[in-house]
Amino acid sequence: MVKMHAILSIATLVIVILSVSTTLASSTSLKYGFYKTTCPSAEAIVRRAVNKAVSLNPGITAGLIRMHFHDCFVRGCDGSVLLDSIPGIRSERDHPANNPSLRGFEVINEAKAQIEAACPKTVSCADILAFAARDSARKVSGGRIDYSVPSGRRDGRVSIFDEVTQNLPPPTFSAEQLIDNFDRKGLSVDEMVTLSGAHSIGVSHCSSFSKRLYSFNATFPQDPSMDPDFARLLRSKCPPPQSQQSQSQIQNLDSTVAFDGSTPNDLDNMYYKRLKNNRGLLTSDQILVNSGLTKRMVLKNARHAAIWNVKFAKAMVHMGNLDVLTGSQGEIREYCSVVNFI
Ligand code: HEM
Ligand SMILES: *[C@@H]1O[C@H](CO)[C@@H](O)[C@H](O)[C@H]1NC(C)=O
Repeated sequence: MVKMHAILSIATLVIVILSVSTTLASSTSLKYGFYKTTCPSAEAIVRRAVNKAVSLNPGITAGLIRMHFHDCFVRGCDGSVLLDSIPGIRSERDHPANNPSLRGFEVINEAKAQIEAACPKTVSCADILAFAARDSARKVSGGRIDYSVPSGRRDGRVSIFDEVTQNLPPPTFSAEQLIDNFDRKGLSVDEMVTLSGAHSIGVSHCSSFSKRLYSFNATFPQDPSMDPDFARLLRSKCPPPQSQQSQSQIQNLDSTVAFDGSTPNDLDNMYYKRLKNNRGLLTSDQILVNSGLTKRMVLKNARHAAIWNVKFAKAMVHMGNLDVLTGSQGEIREYCSVVNFI
C-alpha cells in the first residue's frame, strides 16, 4: 500500500513536471531584448544599415516592410523568403509575387554581415528582417510609428515556391477572401484593414492592376469603382496589357506606379482617405471601402490618424509572431540567402 502510494505520487510528480515543462516549451515565445547579453549591438547595427539604405533610396522602406509580411505569411516569420532557389528547388523568393518586385535583400545581407562580424552565429535573419521592417516604419512615418520588436526567432531551412500561391493574397481578392486569408493566420478583420495601410507607401507594377484600366469586364472596360481621373492618369503610365510580346518585352513594359503619388514616402492614414475618393490602386485596396464588411474600419482609420498609428504598430508585432521557430528549432543562418552547410 505504501509502495503503491509512492509509485502514484512519483507518477503524479512526473506528470506535474511534464506538464510544467510542456507549458514552458509551448510558451517558449519571443522576448523583448532577446540579444541584450549575447549581441547588444544587433538592433543598432540593423538600424544603421536601414538608415543608410534609406538615405540613398527612400523606397527601400516599403520593400522591407513588404518583405517581412511575405516572410511571415509563408511558413511563419522564419526568414524563408530570403533563401535563394537551389538546383531542383525553386524557393519563395522566385515566385512572381516576390520576383522581381520584392526589394531590400541587400540591406538585410549588409546588416547580417556586420552582425556576424560582431557576434557570430547568434542573430537570426528572421529577427534582422523584423527589426528592419520596424526601423523602416519608424523612418518612413517620421517617428510616428515606432514599436519594440520581440525577438528570438530562428531561421528555417525550407522555402517552397508553391507555398507562396497558397498563402499570400493576390491583389484581385474580394473582402471575404482577404478576411479569410488573414483569419487563417489568426489576424482579425480590423488588423487586415489596418495592415493594408502599408499601401500608403511604395509602388506597384502596372501588371498588378492594369486589368482595372483596360479590360475590367464585358460591360466596362474600366473598373467603375475607380475614379475616372485617377484611371486616366494610370493609363498614361501603364500601357494596355499586350499578349503578342515576348516575356522580356512585357517585363520591360511593366513600369511601376506609386500607391500614393502625392506622398509615396510617408507612411500615414492618407491611404484610407484615398479609398474614400475611389483612388485605391489595387482591387484589394478599393474593395475595403466598398464592402460592408470593412467599410466602417476604413472610415475610422481615415478619421483618426493617431489611432491608426498605434494599431499599425500593434498589428505589425502580432504579424511578426506568426508561426515563429524558437529555442532549438531551425538554425541561425550564417548567410541569409542560404541554409547552413551541415
Ligand atoms: C491585404 C492583402 C494584400 C495584398 C493583396 C497586397 C498586394 C500587393 C501588391 C500586388 C503589391 C505591388 C507589387 C508589385 O506589383 O510591384 C504590393 C505592394 C506593397 N505591399 Fe502589399 N498586399 C497586401 C497586404 C500588405 C501588407 C499586410 C503589407 C505590410 C504590412 C503590405 C505592404 C506592401 C508594401 C509596402 C508595398 C510596396 C512595395 C514596394 O514599393 O517595394 N501589403 N502589395
Ligand atoms: C461588370 O462589373 C459591374 C460592376 O462591378 C457589374 O455591375 C456588372 O454586372 C459586370 N458585368 C458583367 C458582364 O460581368
